[in-house]
Amino acid sequence: MENETLMTICSRRGIRSFTGEAVSREDLMKIFKAGMAAPSAVNTQPRSFVVVTKREVLDELCATLPYANMLDRAGAAIVVCGIPDKDEIYSRKYWVIDCSAATENILLACYALGLGAVWTAVYVDEERIRNVRKILNVPETISPLNVIPVGVPKEKGAPINKFREDNIHWERW
Ligand SMILES: Cc1cc2nc3c(=O)[nH]c(=O)nc-3n(C[C@H](O)[C@H](O)[C@H](O)COP(=O)(O)O)c2cc1C
Repeated sequence: MENETLMTICSRRGIRSFTGEAVSREDLMKIFKAGMAAPSAVNTQPRSFVVVTKREVLDELCATLPYANMLDRAGAAIVVCGIPDKDEIYSRKYWVIDCSAATENILLACYALGLGAVWTAVYVDEERIRNVRKILNVPETISPLNVIPVGVPKEKGAPINKFREDNIHWERW
């Protein structure tokens, strides 16, 4: 593939193994810039982010999220949060979709910067939502969608080919 952006998109993998090294603030700001560049319904941008870099807080999240145990060696975690009340019509309906678009941009930015990252689920599990809110002091009106552990990758994820020609329906299904 000749295009660098397309190569990044097609070879990104979820990374679950980190060295434990810190992630620089400079890299985190680049990652947020990418996240906030994502599209959202009527450009309402119903999203906000909590970034966690302190080991004790990463450990608290790790202890409460059953499928995020890679947090124990992550350098940081980004919690993508929705703001359903940002707009009466569009944000209520579309915050999950809008935050998912931001999440994908974040995952791609991490990969482009040589960092590892993986989407770990918070929403739609009520208990996880409650626990993440409690640990991070997130208000009731804000909805944590996921926790993205970010770190220096310990191993490289081999690209997997998910392309399926039979998933494409030309003109009509
Ligand atoms: C909505 C959603 C929830 C996910 N939750 C988790 C999770 O809790 N823990 C985890 O390790 N991976 C989680 N993943 C990552 C997927 O397992 C991963 O993206 C999938 O296996 C494809 O692998 P890839 O990202 O390397 O292409 C989640 C992904 C999505 C989109």
